[in-house]
This record gives sequence, C-alpha cells and structure tokens, in this order.
Amino acid sequence: MTPEEFRRLGHRLIDWIADYREGIEQHPVLSQVAPGSIRASLPASAPELPEDLDAHLIADVERLLMPGLTHWQHPNFHAYFPGNASYASVLADLLSTGLGQTGITWQASPVLTELEETTCDWMRQLLGLSPAWQGVIHDTASTATLTALLCARERTTNHSQTRGGLQAESAPLVVYTSREAHSSVEKAALLAGFGREQLRFIATDDEFALRADALEQAIREDVVAGRLPCAIVATTGTTATTAIDPIAAIARIAQAHGLWLHVDAAMAGSAMICPEKRGLWEGAQAADSIVMNPHKWLGVAFDCSLYLVRDAEHLVRVMSTNPSYLQSGADGNVRSLRDWGLPLGRRFRALKLWMHLRAEGAQALRTRLRRDMANAQWLAAQVDASPQWVRLAPVPLQTVCVRHEPVGLTGAALDAHTLAWAQRVNASGRAFVTPSLLAGRWMVRVSIGAERTERHHVEALWALLQERARG
Ligand SMILES: Cc1ncc(COP(=O)(O)O)c(C=O)c1O
Repeated sequence: MTPEEFRRLGHRLIDWIADYREGIEQHPVLSQVAPGSIRASLPASAPELPEDLDAHLIADVERLLMPGLTHWQHPNFHAYFPGNASYASVLADLLSTGLGQTGITWQASPVLTELEETTCDWMRQLLGLSPAWQGVIHDTASTATLTALLCARERTTNHSQTRGGLQAESAPLVVYTSREAHSSVEKAALLAGFGREQLRFIATDDEFALRADALEQAIREDVVAGRLPCAIVATTGTTATTAIDPIAAIARIAQAHGLWLHVDAAMAGSAMICPEKRGLWEGAQAADSIVMNPHKWLGVAFDCSLYLVRDAEHLVRVMSTNPSYLQSGADGNVRSLRDWGLPLGRRFRALKLWMHLRAEGAQALRTRLRRDMANAQWLAAQVDASPQWVRLAPVPLQTVCVRHEPVGLTGAALDAHTLAWAQRVNASGRAFVTPSLLAGRWMVRVSIGAERTERHHVEALWALLQERARG
C-alpha cells in the first residue's frame, strides 16, 4: 500500500466508522448468523496476488463482516458488561499502531513508558487512591490477576522461584476467593501452580458477597492442617450481580494472617471515579493489588486494564529478567515496564487512556456513569413494582438481575421459561441480555452502561422484556 492509498482508504474508513456509529441502532444488537457461516463465506487460503482494498474493502466489511458483528456500542447492548470504545480511544488506537512502537525497554520508546506512568497516575488520583499506589497497563484483568497471584506466591515463599520453586515448598499454599468470583481467578490460581485442591471458594451471604467469617474460618482450618494461606482475591462488583465483597473486613483478615489481598474491580472500578461510590470498596487502600478495566464501563477501547500495586519493588523483583541485549545506559533511572508484567513487548496503550481522559474530562465521565446508575435504579424500581417480576440482587451499580416468575412455575420449568424469554428478546434484535445462573437457577442480567444508552432506551427495553416474557 502506498502512502497515498493509505491516506485515501484511511479517510474513507474513518468516515465509515463514524457513519456506522451514528446508524448503529438499525442493526440487530446480537449477531444473527449461524455458527460457521462467516468462515464459509471467506476464501480458504490467503491471496497470492495483491487485491485492490480501495475498491473492495468497505463493501467487504459491510457484506462479509457486518452480519457477524454483535454491536457492543449499541444503546440496547445489555449483555455481559459495558464494553465502551470512545471515539477518542479509537483514534488513539489508530495512532498507536500508526506510530508502530514496541516498548521492550524505556530506550525503545521513552514516550511509551512515560505516558503510561503519567496516565496510570492520573487514574490513581481519579480512583481516590493514595500516592503509595503505582500502576501499569496490562491487556486484561485476567493477566493482572495472574500477575497478582504470582506476586503473592513469591512473597509467601520468600522468592521460591530463585530456588526450587513451588515444587520444593514443604507446605501447600492456599488461595481464597468467593463462589461468585470471576472465572479468571480460578484460571490464574491454576496457572500460577497452586492446584485446584488449594483453591477455596468461600461461601457468600444473601447478597452474594463473600462472607468474612467463613473466610476467617477457612484460613484457620488450613493453618491447623499445616497448609500455608497465601492470597485472597476479593471482588468489588462480581460478574453475575455486581456483588460487593466487604473489602475492609477482608483486608483486616489478610493483614492478621499475612496474606496477599488482590481486589478484582475489573468492571466496577470505573465507578470509583465518583467519590460517593468509594464506600463500596472501603478498605481497598490496604490491599496489595487492584485491577480495574478502563476498557469496560469507563470507555477506553479494548484492551486497557489497569493493574495497581502498593509494593512496586516486589512486583519488579518477581517479574524481572535482564538479558544483555536489553540493557542501556538509562537503566536505573527509568521504569522498565517489561518488569511490571508478563510480556516483554508492549503496545502503546497509554495513548488510549490519555486521549480518552483528555477528550472526555473526568466530570463528563462521572456524569455518564451516574446517568447509567440512575437508569439501573429506574429499571429496578419498575421490576420491584411489577407482579410476577422478581429482582434477585441489590443494585449498587448498573446491573439489574431479574426473573419473570408466573404463578405456579418453579424449578426446571421456571428455568426453561427464563431461557426461552431471554432468547426471544435476543432474537428480536432489539436488545441483547445475558442469562446467568444464580444460586442454581437461571436469571437474566441487564447490564446498563453503553455510552449511548439513555433513559428512553431502558424504557424500551423494559417494555420489550415484558412483551417477550408473555410469549
Ligand atoms: C469481575 C471481573 N473480573 C475479571 C473479568 C475479566 O476481565 P478481562 O476480560 O479483562 O480478563 C471480568 C470480565 O467480565 C469481570 O467482570
């Protein structure tokens, strides 16, 4: 592609993206394609000769790719969690790849490192955390939680990796989390070598939050049995219901027993830019590490996950390697982000955070998040006031968990009804909601928080839920 072709197609693509976003409501929210159909419509092998992208690309995007898109930016996307991608962060992603930086050392891209330091510190301040915290951008919360458990393992074993590793330890190390924790916690514990038998899923209370008394008891039992309690992963805003684990009480337990405390606030962390919401993670300042994803509700295009630690020196000691080809005269005076996480090479992700925060400003971000939380309260009030509708969990943020319970319908028949009406909602193309198991029964999660979702969209959604629940 020549610079001229790049310029021409680039302008057309930007125009196309803006038109797509403006007209997004005309598309069915959930992709309606059958599995395998996209693949079947694509050539089986790469072209041998160059193709004319200028002539074909936009038509191909519309014809071949568009049917396979589920529209996360649609105002009636109420599935999973908000996965916003602001215009500013879209442009930043383009700029990042256009600049073609690979941050393997400070020297390899000084600005990549220093903009990341700056924007992570901006985020720290916006979240109300003390200057004791320092941040780094990872791809996902899954990676951040794995990093946290690796750091926990190495702290408890006084850097066993420099000796015989976990395999040479005399007692098994134990990780604690709640039954409602995200699957990435289990995955991280398994990958970090703790073993399934050393992973405790602690019981939750009526509001699906981890029970501190049950945690304390589990730790005591492990100590008596000769095991080594190592880490707790608590959640601010669980995936199913946005339940809020009691971080302050958990932090006290962690401190009393010398455990690492990691707070998974992947989704809900965005709300902490609103000072009135910080009570939800009271005690988080006493944790060892926190993850929150600006690539969710806050609005930075995927991927941008903020991992915050109080003891950066420990993180660096666990993660560092220093091969000679990566050494430079600046070492010692600069931050080497390869020692702040798993990968060596890193993308220039800080650009997305920088441009997003500058284009929006913190005040507008707070206003948008408060709008979403008010919309969730509105929906919760409708559900509470409607016969045969049940709200299954508190609504501290932007997710409302509901079930339609016609008189006499229970057990498996109620589950079948729930899954059927959710499927009818999704097949309508007018909204996308995700059913989820809660205490062994299916319910429907309504996540509110797409950038474009206004009250009238939530009103239309509520009408649609009622209509499709009737049949
Ligand atoms: C509470 C929580 N933790 C972790 C994750 C995983 O996030 P990521 O996709 O960034 O790994 C999610 C995503 O849904 C989540 O809700």
